[in-house]
Amino acid sequence: MTGTDMTKQRDFDAVAASWDEEPRRVTLAGEIADAIMSSLRLSPEWDAMDFGSGTGLVTLRLAPCVRSILAVDSSRGMLDRLGAKIQATGLHNVRTAMAEELPGLSAAEHFHLITSAMTLHHIQDIARLLRSFRALLHPGGHLALADLEAEDGTFHDDPTGVYHHGFSREELTELLRQAGFTSISVSSITEIVKGERRFPVLLAIAAL
Ligand SMILES: C[S@@+](CC[C@H](N)C(=O)[O-])C[C@H]1O[C@@H](n2cnc3c(N)ncnc32)[C@H](O)[C@@H]1O
Repeated sequence: MTGTDMTKQRDFDAVAASWDEEPRRVTLAGEIADAIMSSLRLSPEWDAMDFGSGTGLVTLRLAPCVRSILAVDSSRGMLDRLGAKIQATGLHNVRTAMAEELPGLSAAEHFHLITSAMTLHHIQDIARLLRSFRALLHPGGHLALADLEAEDGTFHDDPTGVYHHGFSREELTELLRQAGFTSISVSSITEIVKGERRFPVLLAIAAL
């Protein structure tokens, strides 16, 4: 991977329209949402945020189990796809916000749960992101982060905007601990199969 690839933004707008057409993505989002719901007892009194929501494949699975969910993404195209789904389904508890690494969110808004699926590896400064999550959570709030387990760099055919080749369990645990989270658990929840290759997916659960 070259420095240029790593610093260039990946163009998620360009793939937004066809994002949901890949069955693997829909299946994975369902597995991640199921694993989050098995790990945490979601409450209809919780306000949640899904960071890097994309077209809302995970967001919309979690929405019926919480009071509200804010889908945050840096891609207008992804959020437009989610907006169309929200309109079509008539869901009243899902909102969208365009933001990159959370500078645009009102500090007045706090959440009981922050989730993120397959987005961390696109974020350069994970420690900074986790500190932002911490600032946005209510005391006692929960974090649920799903991403690739450390891989050899072959997961993405195009390395643009890929800052991490997944994460080891130890690395995730330490990042969460340093950001002030407790009750940290990291487990393997599924695998993404690409031809002959298998890429395990981790779910990290933590609390404030
Ligand atoms: C691989 S997709 C995952 C989408 C969705 N969570 C899912 O599981 O289908 C990564 C998403 O993260 C978003 N993203 C990447 N970098 C971001 C950033 N710095 N801030 C906010 N969103 C970002 C992208 O626009 C994209 O929608």
